[in-house]
Amino acid sequence: MIPQADPSRRIARHRDAVIEAITAVVDGHEYILGSHVERFEEAFASSLGAAHGVGVNSGTDAIALALRATGIGRGDEVLVPALTAAGTAAAVLQAGATPRFVDVELSTRCLDLGATEAAVSGRTAAILAVHLHGHPIDMPRLLEIARHHSLVVIEDCAQAHGASFAGRAIGTFGTAAAFSFYPTKNLGCIGDGGAVITSDPGVAARVRSLRNYGWQDGRRLSATAAGNSRLDALQAAILLALLPHLDAGNAERRVLARRYREMLADSAVGLPAEHPGCVYHQFAITVARRDEIRRLLRERHGIGSAVHYDSPLHLQPAFADFADAPLPVSERLAREMISLPIQPEIANQAVDTIAAAVRSLVGPAERKAA
Ligand SMILES: Cc1ncc(COP(=O)(O)O)c(C=O)c1O
Repeated sequence: MIPQADPSRRIARHRDAVIEAITAVVDGHEYILGSHVERFEEAFASSLGAAHGVGVNSGTDAIALALRATGIGRGDEVLVPALTAAGTAAAVLQAGATPRFVDVELSTRCLDLGATEAAVSGRTAAILAVHLHGHPIDMPRLLEIARHHSLVVIEDCAQAHGASFAGRAIGTFGTAAAFSFYPTKNLGCIGDGGAVITSDPGVAARVRSLRNYGWQDGRRLSATAAGNSRLDALQAAILLALLPHLDAGNAERRVLARRYREMLADSAVGLPAEHPGCVYHQFAITVARRDEIRRLLRERHGIGSAVHYDSPLHLQPAFADFADAPLPVSERLAREMISLPIQPEIANQAVDTIAAAVRSLVGPAERKAA
């Protein structure tokens, strides 16, 4: 069986470095915050060209704390794409704000910027720019819209470690950016983890305080009511060991995406938008008869696949209160998308087999009459 994703294969590939990192934490006796977390924060922020990194316990908390630290909360509306992980919108609610769902584009699967601007209301305070599947949003255009309406921009980079737009790292355009290090991510640890990246020292200081009971200035006194959202020292040490391999992994993903495009070019699939700064956290094609194709891939060819995501957020019970209109592109993508395996440790050996199987199941593209 070819799995859709298997983080243990990446850990196995870098096993010696990971074990060395774990041993350093065990022997170093710094289990909460301390030098492992600080070294990772600095290395990750500087790899992106940002001034500050603050490790937190998940991508969801990274978004929630970034919102709180930039002053977004009760009474504020945040524009969120309907096609994203549940954590994106849950974090908006966690910050006390209200999500307003916006449709995505068919090709990029990211916020439709025309629809985003049209959705701005008197209560809109922020845009959550989700770089879904590793595809970089046109951030200069999004920032222009935000400036015009005086909105805060938070980037959700949970799927976009190392992505770029016009040579600039994704995660450095907004006031702050949130990353997840969930094991399957392009940079993933062996548990939960996340980080907020920002070049604003005030935002960084507020996130640092909010992740640790609202303590600040080295005093054990809660200035703000806040919980515990610290990045674990063990995960930080592992992330520091894996960070030097991120770019090579992303380069492999780009090669794999190119191969999928070549092999699927004349078949009846919809391909994701092509962008040189994309890091292909997922390679999601669209097909008719999606569920049947997935079943045949599994049963006939032993190929695993996944769907990111099979229900847009406005159609999920938890967010039904915030659904005010159909969002047809998100709904269509949720019916038609299949995420093919693209994790290098799986797909480097299997991309041709997977693409040939998809091609045989979906058939050739219909020729348009000349
Ligand atoms: C786009 C996006 N946003 C937010 C999250 C939440 O991250 P975490 O699972 O680390 O809380 C994820 C991960 O599932 C994600 O893919």
